Amino acid sequence: MTEPANQPTADAPGFPRIGFNLVFVPGDGIGPEVIAAGRRVLEATGRLFGFRFEWQEILIGGVAIDAYGVPMRDEDLAACRDADAVYFGAIGDPKYDDPTATVRPEQALLGLRKGLGLYANLRPVTVQPVLRASSPVRESLLEGVDMMIVRELTGGLYFGKPSGLRAGPAGREAVDTLIYSEEEIRRVVRLAFELARGRRKKLTSVDKANILSSSRLWRTIVEEVRPEYPDVTVEHRLVDACAMTLIQRPAVFDVLVTENLFGDILSDEASVLAGSLGMLPSASIGERQTAHGLHGMYEPIHGSAPDIAGKDIANPLAAILSGAMMLRWSLGQNAAAVAIERAVTAVLTAGYRTADLLSATGDATGLRPVGTQAMGDAVVAAIENQEHTAAEDGERATALSGGSR
Ligand code: IPM
Ligand code: MG
Repeated sequence: MTEPANQPTADAPGFPRIGFNLVFVPGDGIGPEVIAAGRRVLEATGRLFGFRFEWQEILIGGVAIDAYGVPMRDEDLAACRDADAVYFGAIGDPKYDDPTATVRPEQALLGLRKGLGLYANLRPVTVQPVLRASSPVRESLLEGVDMMIVRELTGGLYFGKPSGLRAGPAGREAVDTLIYSEEEIRRVVRLAFELARGRRKKLTSVDKANILSSSRLWRTIVEEVRPEYPDVTVEHRLVDACAMTLIQRPAVFDVLVTENLFGDILSDEASVLAGSLGMLPSASIGERQTAHGLHGMYEPIHGSAPDIAGKDIANPLAAILSGAMMLRWSLGQNAAAVAIERAVTAVLTAGYRTADLLSATGDATGLRPVGTQAMGDAVVAAIENQEHTAAEDGERATALSGGSR
């Protein structure tokens, strides 16, 4: 999909600024810390690019069970629906991990995905050149890794009925159902083709068609849609073999599209390439257009990491990069999104590292260890710095051309 261009505008007094209504969900574990850093970065882009945010904070997840007895209230789902986009931290709390519990934080996440119609989960996997050494995968294999995993998000095993525990003829049994309608497959496959068209024009569809009926339908639909995109090369891979190739030759992938559970597993695997789960953002988008873009929800893929919560050591870059995806997909602010992405590259190049990135490197010589909020501050400073450089370049150009302003 081609991304909209837009120009930075001055934040002059009295300058009319576009406003965005966002719901802000800190959630559980490290969610509140990383999302706070991300919010400061978004505010910085607003000041520089001439827009402002109205934030509505809501409780979802374990914190909502604690406060209201349910993982998500109906009115909070409605608030998410009414907002331009949802900026999400993480949910999950070990105190609700009991497998017999009937109320669990994760139900809220599934409720949001289904309730907001967020059928496509976009998980870009890129490797920052300065982080190649942080990945356990050999550096030479990481050259050129740039893929977009498109995970179907509102169907498959996560939502299929029947699902549950029941009494069987030989004791307890449990069932989950992998079901897809052709329309559910078609819309996510089309989106993946569109994305491939705007990138390196290669689509890998991942399935288990040698075993599963749902996968055979998936493959059939991909073949049916294929003639609409003659410029895109298509390949089918079986999920087990694909899991292997993701590590052996990760640079061969451009866009991958796959069903819900396969996408869940493969995207965690692919995150290893980036050096840390703390680097990977995600966007969950639906079909609904708002005044500014597609309605969606933006969250780091790392989850709530309760063991490191509240210590200011979590990596906020995945949350910050999720903010960039929100600017791009839901808010029509591509230039601001690019500014965030450049700032992240700049702080990493300057040596800033949170604990997850340091521990993987082994050697911290020349690096600057920072906590969650200091990493957020460094990104804010890098964005402001880019803007000063751009303004100075502009002044220089004006002076050279003899103009005045
Ligand atoms: C993810 C997570 C979730 C999922 C969990 C927290 C329910 O692993 O977003 O990948 O399985 O979808
Ligand atoms: Mg997952």
